[in-house]
Amino acid sequence: MSQLRINGRLYTLDADPRMPLLWALRDILGLTGTKYGCGAGLCGACTVHVDGKPARACLTSVQSLEGKSVTTIEGLQDDKLKDSWRRHKVPQCGYCQTGQLMSASALLSQNPNPSDAEIDSAMSGNLCRCGTYTRIRDAIRDHAR
Ligand code: FES
Repeated sequence: MSQLRINGRLYTLDADPRMPLLWALRDILGLTGTKYGCGAGLCGACTVHVDGKPARACLTSVQSLEGKSVTTIEGLQDDKLKDSWRRHKVPQCGYCQTGQLMSASALLSQNPNPSDAEIDSAMSGNLCRCGTYTRIRDAIRDHAR
């Protein structure tokens, strides 16, 4: 049994403690906003926050989260960022976007006015096959204004 605090709610999980958080979120808890891309820590589609910092849910075991607080896209409170994303029509296919938003939110909470270089560096681990990088940067800049 593992206990997980996700989006402010405590869940008790009867699962292998080595199970990646991504599987627990999607297959057990029905929190499917966090996406499976590569499963190997390379694409960023599964980005969540653990104690406010971005983390790859595909590489984070359930047992490593004891006493920590997880936020998924379902619990992301930043309406200003979501509005900025909509205003700039960032998503194309949309698959990677929840991970992009979680990374952008983590960046902005630590650095409310990032430079383009800081944006590119913070977002470099989130891949987008549609190439929405310019719009992502614009949306983050807009949020920072
Ligand atoms: Fe986790 Fe790609 S699915 S980084």
